[in-house]
Amino acid sequence: MPKHRNSLKVDSDDEDPRISRRSFLALMGLGVGVGAAHLVGASVLGFLYPNAMKTPPSVFSLGRPDEVLSREGKVFFPKQKVFIETTAGRVRVQTAVCTHLGCTVNAVETGYQCPCHGSTYDLVGRNTGGPAPTPLVFYSVFKGASGDLMCNKATTTLDAEEAWFSPNA
Ligand code: FES
Repeated sequence: MPKHRNSLKVDSDDEDPRISRRSFLALMGLGVGVGAAHLVGASVLGFLYPNAMKTPPSVFSLGRPDEVLSREGKVFFPKQKVFIETTAGRVRVQTAVCTHLGCTVNAVETGYQCPCHGSTYDLVGRNTGGPAPTPLVFYSVFKGASGDLMCNKATTTLDAEEAWFSPNA
């Protein structure tokens, strides 16, 4: 009498290693079902924890003025993907996000360089080569109510001189 497998039960004594078409299809269906459940679960979690909670706020603290001004030069702030530049009691903040496809640029001797497709920018962020279509913007800096220096990514300028903020002026 032929042996039929019509369930996912596996008989350990079974010498026949083949799997029936029905079992194979059942396993495939199970795999698809688990994949779909993951997608639905991710969507529900995405709904419960919206994007606004994942992206850093557009207004953020740079720190206490004396602490910020004590650093000379350019410092990369990875959480916000910005460069904070301080010199002679002034501070300005510039995006580190390449204007081509959004990779993070590196500060180099001549300005900035994107590791993804080779875009280059000069020392103030003007695009000088590669596929980057526009310069790197500066964000506004102001003194917050707490006394901290704050950066607002919603307000931008391409004017490198206008971007400086002097907390003690
Ligand atoms: S993302 Fe920077 S060059 Fe393409």
